Amino acid sequence: MVSASAPKVKSPFKKSDNLLFDPALIPTEIQDCLPSGYVVRPLARTDNQVRSNTSFLKTLEVLTTVGTISDQAYQQRFQYLKEHSDKYYIIVIEDMNVPATLAGSATSSTPNLVTPGRGKIVAAGTILVERKFIHELGLVGHIEDIAVSADQQGKKLGLRIIETLKAIGQQVGCYKVILDCSEKNVPFYEKCGFERKGVEMGWYV
Ligand code: ACO
Repeated sequence: MVSASAPKVKSPFKKSDNLLFDPALIPTEIQDCLPSGYVVRPLARTDNQVRSNTSFLKTLEVLTTVGTISDQAYQQRFQYLKEHSDKYYIIVIEDMNVPATLAGSATSSTPNLVTPGRGKIVAAGTILVERKFIHELGLVGHIEDIAVSADQQGKKLGLRIIETLKAIGQQVGCYKVILDCSEKNVPFYEKCGFERKGVEMGWYV
């Protein structure tokens, strides 16, 4: 179960067509706990751009094979998710402490921490909101695809990603948030406030 106390929300980001969902759902107190120069925000349309291995898709490679995804394919998938943005919430943590020479075309002449894409994506995660009939049309949040770049692990970024996803689930009305993970990640999720429930089953086509 997600805690009953409502999180404080006031994101440094503004709602925009470039962002997957309204950043006001991201609690300000989680942003405040990140290392200096790091920001947590919704996935952006421009997050497929690879500059020195800094893209969202590159970050996911710590999880599994991502494969070759063209810019057009990324844009189509992003557009689908955007049209279902009350169901798919994907967040990233971006490290803005990146030299301007690596920040490429997204660099602004006025340094601005709230411009998505200036820095380097270092972590990502998703909460998918399932709409049920049981529990009086209850909503269940499913956490998926948690990834922290190998060189950024151990800085509590995974914890901040999970805290953010739990807070989003709570604010959109989920009565519980669940996830599947490997045995080796159980201690991490216990640190994030989860407990063992049931058994995961799988069928691969
Ligand atoms: N075993 C024991 N404790 C752990 C582990 C672990 N494998 N990983 C983290 N912790 C602990 C940390 O020590 C820390 O404890 P503390 O508060 O006492 O200091 C706490 O959990 C928070 O750790 P973070 O620093 O936030 O962890 P990190 O940023 O490294 O992220 C993660 C953890 C997401 C598992 C990362 O290592 C990763 O991306 N791994 C590869 C991909 C992966 O396995 N993703 C999860 C798939 S499951 C899913 O997506 C639903």
